[in-house]
Amino acid sequence: MAKQVSSNSDAPSHIPVLLEPIMAAIAPVSGVWLDGTFGAGGYTRALLDAGAARVLAVDRDPDVFNRAGRWASQYGERLVMVAGEFGQLDMLAEQQGALPLDGIVLDIGVSSMQIDEAERGFSFAKDGPLDMRMSQSGISAADIVNRTDEKTLADILYQYGEERASRRIARRILNARKNAPITSTMELASHVAACLPHPKPGQPHPATRSFQALRIAVNDELKQLVDGLVAAENALRPGGILAVVTFHSLEDRIVKRFIQARSGTGPRGNRFQPELDVELPRFERLTRKAVGPSDDEMAQNPRARSAKLRMARRLTPAAGSVDGKSLGLPEIALEML
Ligand SMILES: C[S@@+](CC[C@H](N)C(=O)[O-])C[C@H]1O[C@@H](n2cnc3c(N)ncnc32)[C@H](O)[C@@H]1O
Repeated sequence: MAKQVSSNSDAPSHIPVLLEPIMAAIAPVSGVWLDGTFGAGGYTRALLDAGAARVLAVDRDPDVFNRAGRWASQYGERLVMVAGEFGQLDMLAEQQGALPLDGIVLDIGVSSMQIDEAERGFSFAKDGPLDMRMSQSGISAADIVNRTDEKTLADILYQYGEERASRRIARRILNARKNAPITSTMELASHVAACLPHPKPGQPHPATRSFQALRIAVNDELKQLVDGLVAAENALRPGGILAVVTFHSLEDRIVKRFIQARSGTGPRGNRFQPELDVELPRFERLTRKAVGPSDDEMAQNPRARSAKLRMARRLTPAAGSVDGKSLGLPEIALEML
């Protein structure tokens, strides 16, 4: 769906992460690009200013397009805003008559605006409803917290949040919700904190890992990432570029394994970990190691601290199939009681 731009503000509170290394690596920019995580439009704007003929700006959060400032309208038809999920970016690009694409950028995760708005329920620092839905539809964090069984809840906290106290936290939540459902972010944060030691100065809030886990589950973020990478292989022209920025190890592992598997640069298989499918490389790896932020960027934008960029260039062989499990996609069946 192409949208008209409406203008509210020209001052987004989100600072684009790792934009400099991306722009340096992809220069000179031309042709049609897809920004799968429009957010405050930082990447989209940089691509248009650098010479992209057209940018398809995709986001699953319907609010972001209304927030786009007056800057957006200056690009006229060169900027096409598309509400949707990047897991289906090949289909979205096809609907816009934009295939094959010259480049794709993905900056995974939540934006500062989403975290800052208490009513979106992403933050334990401000009280709000337990929501966390980027698309503002589908199951919410409250549904998962109040309507999954103890094992599923513990699995979510462990697999998506790497929370070692997952079973203790799940048991406490199950006990608490016998009295009344847990409905607010601070209520949940206090239950999680009660299961963990007090943080030392400088350590993150004890609920950080549990909130990350719930957010990933609510938005099916890892599956979206796998689907987005596969869709990128379908959508890019030979020579087209894929750039992906991630913020935690689960996501980075998926991107790393995908690029290794599709470029034939993965580790040799062994009996514990069979070799990934590498018959015909579909990508050339452009970043052997993930690129992180410079000291300057970290000083200006602490949120960039954990960001990692990986890039690859599409080669000519036709797209193939990819098994999410071999990329490290956990399998958790999300059933509501
Ligand atoms: C970190 S922000 C992107 C910021 C952007 N690069 C900028 O410079 O302003 C991530 C954005 O991606 C969106 N998003 C996350 N997962 C998505 C998905 N699977 N499909 C589409 N949009 C997604 C979020 O709603 C959010 O607006």
